[in-house]
Parts: sequence; structure tokens; C-alpha cells
Amino acid sequence: MNSNNLKLKDQANNYPSWQLTNRQICDLELILNGGFDPLNGFLSKNDYDSVLKDMRLKNGILWPLPITLDVDDDFLDQNSNESKITLRDKEGFALGILTISDIWKPDLKYEAKSIFGTLDTKHPGVNHLLNIGNKNYIGGTVEMISLPHHHDYNDFRHSPDDLKHDFKSMGWDKIVAFQTRNPLHRAHFELTKNAMRELNANILIHPVVGLTKPGDVNHYTRMRCYQHVMKEYPKNSAKLSLLPLAMRMGGPRETILHAIIRKNYGCTHLIVGRDHAGPGLDSKNNPFYGPYDAQEMLNNYQREIGIEMVSFKFMVYIPKTGNYKPIDEVKKNEDYKTLSGTELRQFLDKGEGIPDWFTFRAVSRELERSNPPLAKRGLTIFFTGLSGSGKSTLANGLLIKLLEEGSRPVTLLDGDIVRTHLSSELGFSREHRSINITRIGYVASEITKNGGIAICAPIAPYKKDRNYNRELISQVGGYLEVYVNTPLEKCEERDTKGLYALARKGKIKEFTGISDPYEEPKNAEIVISSSKTSPEELVDQIYDAISERGYIAINKSKGIE
Ligand code: PPS
Repeated sequence: MNSNNLKLKDQANNYPSWQLTNRQICDLELILNGGFDPLNGFLSKNDYDSVLKDMRLKNGILWPLPITLDVDDDFLDQNSNESKITLRDKEGFALGILTISDIWKPDLKYEAKSIFGTLDTKHPGVNHLLNIGNKNYIGGTVEMISLPHHHDYNDFRHSPDDLKHDFKSMGWDKIVAFQTRNPLHRAHFELTKNAMRELNANILIHPVVGLTKPGDVNHYTRMRCYQHVMKEYPKNSAKLSLLPLAMRMGGPRETILHAIIRKNYGCTHLIVGRDHAGPGLDSKNNPFYGPYDAQEMLNNYQREIGIEMVSFKFMVYIPKTGNYKPIDEVKKNEDYKTLSGTELRQFLDKGEGIPDWFTFRAVSRELERSNPPLAKRGLTIFFTGLSGSGKSTLANGLLIKLLEEGSRPVTLLDGDIVRTHLSSELGFSREHRSINITRIGYVASEITKNGGIAICAPIAPYKKDRNYNRELISQVGGYLEVYVNTPLEKCEERDTKGLYALARKGKIKEFTGISDPYEEPKNAEIVISSSKTSPEELVDQIYDAISERGYIAINKSKGIE
């Protein structure tokens, strides 16, 4: 830390602190290290309006995406008269001081439409804007106290100046950047080799390790894969560097940002393939952007940015020659192979080896290690249903069967257990039930992430909370919802705890099914509708359904095989 940074660090305690979100830490790092040059802070209101409307800062410089500091209402209520705030990381380290130029409430729908061209929240960028981010923006310049701290891969993290210096000392003057958020497979390797050969250039493998699309392979696994692939390039021809960017999956507009960043990092060329920075399919299963929209967009701006686009079509494998080539060069009747992300996941789910033509053996070993077959992967089985529906009985029966099966550790998070040990201070208001269910989701996600089985059995009456858990947990392992659909009359007739009677008399308020809603699940993987079948048989049925989905290796429900 130099003397100026130290002086700022002392001043930092005089100002209110804002604890940065993960996305804001990524943005701040690129503001501070020059990756986002010419930005010297978070966008002011004028720049923001201009970026949305014209894809330019107010001074006319090309800038495609709003880099904004979003804060919550509480923070604003307490600090609306301040002129400076200290930006801190999660541990409370001061990273910078922001001198406030503007505070405003953005029209987030207008922003989503202008930047992403849609309001569909299946788009991760739109979802972040409308459902996750804070609703107020603060603009202003930032003075650096320190760059964000990283504990991982520091030898592979570089500022633009570091990289430019390295390129110079290696005598590289033509550098092609390859942007990626996925592991590198043979198609990518061949594509980068082609670019190097055609341009007589060196390659910078520049993967994003800030935030990528939810559900992506985590960056530790990817990094191990990249390190294997780096060995395949000729000596001193390729460099690997990690980019702390928070992707917005903004397709064409984001491609412009990728090009500006690579220009800042000293690259002369950027490879742009099919559906660059694409968010996948919308809620009607149509792609958000055309496959080559990003290429068209960058084509219009590459001169202005000062970086050349190397456009590639989709690469396919030709079994006859054992080579890859762009799909538009495949001859009529020529046999070719491709593997989609879904097909790759299916190979991993079933524990079938990934074909060697698709990826390097060392890479498939890494992927297989971090994605064991479903029968060995972590799993959450989430029971939901009315009080007295039989959730606890079935969940307990299933617990025993899974303990007998013995492939993974199993934890039961029954409604009552959770309310005793995790949520004893909570009642049954909508807000408290949501906290209760998302707490269960969090614990289940940790168990699942670490390869165990979590069986949850709360009422979980609200769709929003169940969906939240489904999304959280599906990213780290398996998720199966079991809807115990016992009619209200039957639950009330059973009334094992006598609570329905009290609820009918109004002595218990907000009682699910009586004076509080139960929103029926519409997409549960397993539905139990029979109140005539014995609990033992129902447990067998649930166990078989789990096993049919591949989460249990051998169906032992009918005895030891
Ligand atoms: S929730 O809505 O998912 O947070 O509920 P949960 O944690 O599963 O707790 C449900 C058990 O608490 C008892 N109980 C009530 N249930 C519903 N509504 C109200 N107002 C209420 N007050 C107490 C009830 O016995 C539930 O137990 P189960 O095991 O579901 O029968």
C-alpha cells in the first residue's frame, strides 16, 4: 500500500460503509485495475441514461453496459446526506472511497428492455435486475485503497498493466484473446489453434472467474481443466489469466464489453464464436439472441474499440479425419459429430465416460471427479404438504431405507425438528414461514453440495419459497420435490395434534389450509395421492421413483440383490 492508499484508509472510517455484493466487488476490481477503462467509478445518472439509450457515456465514448452501484432503501435512508461512502468487502476491508455524484431510483424494467431487449426473468441479467439487485443507484468516482483480496490462483490473476508487461517481455505483439465461462474442450482448443495459425499470433486464454451463468461449472474445476489444456499448446505460445468479471449474459452488448476489456488488457484480437455471452433459452424455449448477433454487433464497433474480431462458426468433429472444422465447411453427406451441454451432462449423470473425441482425457477426469454419477451425487428430497398429510411419517420411512442403502450420509430436516433447532424464534406469518423454508433450503444445499442426502419435510406452503430452494439446490446437486397430496378433509379428520380443531375455533391463527393458503405444487417430481395405501408401501414407491431417476444405483426396495 502506498502513502496515498494509507491516507485514504485512515479517512475511510469517517464515512458510512457499504458492504459490496459479489457482483459489485467484481465490478470494482475492474474499475480499479483498469480493465474497465475509461470508467473511474460507478456510472453517474447522466452516463447511465446515455449508456441505456445510445450505448455511449455522456462524453460519447462507447460503453455498452451500465456498471452501477445498487444499494438498498435502509442504506439510503440513513445516509442520503453524505458526500462520500467507504466501499468494503465481505470481511469489512476498505477497498475504496466513493465520492457521490448522484443518487437515483432507476426504472429497472426500462433498463432491462434497453440492455437485454427483454423483461423475461429467465434471462439471468434481467432476473438479477428485477429480482435480486437493490433498487437505488449511487454514482460517483472511486479512489482506491486496495484491490479486492483473492486467496485462489494469485499467480494467474493479472491487471491490464501486468499482462501488457508480460506480453512485451515475451516479445508477443499479436495476441488473440479467448473468452470463456466453460471448461475448454477439443473444439475450443482446435479453434484457438486455428486462430493462432491464421494470424501468426499468440493466445491469451482469458476465462471469466467472477460471476457467470447460474449452474456453470465452478471455477476451481474449470481452472484444473484449463491447466491441463495449457500443456497442449506449443511452448511459450499461450498464456492463461483469470478475469474477475461479473457476466450479465448480455449477448451482443456484452460482447462489446468483452472486446473493450481485452483491448485494455493489451490484446489485439478477440475470438467471438456462436451465441457469444448468450443467456440460453427464454421462457418459451426460444433463444434470446440470434446465434451470430454478437458477431454482427462487434463487427460494427471493432475499429472504434481498436481490437479485431476473429469470428468463428460452430466447430464440429469429423470422425473420418479425426479433425474439427467449422460447420459451414462440412461437405454434403459428410459425417460429423457434436455434443451439446445437455448431452455432456447426461454422460456425467450416468457415469458413462465422455468420448475422447470431445475432450482431453485429463479434462474428462476432472469433470467426472466434480460431477459424480447421480447415484453418488448429493441430493435433496423435499416433501411438502398440509399439516397431518403424512410428510413426517413418509420422510422418516425414507430416511431408514436410505440409511440401509448406505451410499451417502442422510440428514432429516423435518418441520418440527427445524422449528426446534433452527427456527425456534419464528412464528407462522408469511415472512416467518419464508425465512424458515429458505433456512431449510440453505442447510439442504450445503448437505447436497457436500455429497449427502437431505430429506426435508416442512409444510412449505408458498410456491415462491419452494422455487427458491429448488433453484439454489439444483445448482449443487439433485433436487426432487415430493408433494404429499392428502386432502384437507382427511388431514382434518386425522387431526393427530388437535391443531385443526383449535384453528377452526380461531384459537390458532394463520393455520395452513384453514386460515392461511397452501399453494399446490404444479411441478413436483413425485406426487403421493393415495390415502388408502399403507405408509410402508408409499415409502417403497417413493424410493423406487428416486431410484428410477438414477439417484440410487440398484433398486434394493424388494430386498437385497
Ligand atoms: S412452514 O409453513 O413450512 O414454515 O411450517 P412448518 O415449519 O412445517 O411447521 C408446521 C408444523 O407446525 C405446527 N403449526 C402450524 N402449522 C401450520 N400453520 C400454523 N399456523 C401452525 N401452528 C403450528 C403444525 O403442527 C405443523 O406440523 P406438521 O408436522 O406439518 O403437522
